[in-house]
Amino acid sequence: MTPRRCVAVLGGPNLGRLGQRQPELYGTVTWEDLESRCHAWADDLGLKLKFAQTDSEGELVRMIHEAGSTCDGLILNAAAYTHTSVAVRDAVLTLEIPVLELHLTNPAAREPFRRRNLLQDVVTAGIFGCGPEGYRLALMGMAGLLSGSN
Ligand code: DQA
Repeated sequence: MTPRRCVAVLGGPNLGRLGQRQPELYGTVTWEDLESRCHAWADDLGLKLKFAQTDSEGELVRMIHEAGSTCDGLILNAAAYTHTSVAVRDAVLTLEIPVLELHLTNPAAREPFRRRNLLQDVVTAGIFGCGPEGYRLALMGMAGLLSGSN
């Protein structure tokens, strides 16, 4: 039997506050709910999942490096660091695995400063504005990329 492909799902600052954080924008699903859903979706797709969140830029960089050496794909919601962090961009550039950028909202349709995106030209693809469902779509997309069917 072929071993299950491993996908890391990493979240940046303030995503741990999902559910209470601006629910009119981000909805009422908590980060813990999202983790359970992602585990179920990953199981259905035959993927092994690593799921983690941090508020710290340096820790996110470390987790991206770790994903690059331990996983076959990365789904990254870098949250506010998407718009500010050269360090997160540089960490993504060290990777040799596919990276899907994900945002619950569509940052380009929000405040002008969110249109600055330091990741979009260094990732494989992106999913924006689909809420928690975006994670299911990202896992499906990643499963396709990893099986070579995309
Ligand atoms: C976000 C969008 C970012 O602009 C914002 O800073 C976040 C969440 C999203 O998932 O919609 O923290 O990444």
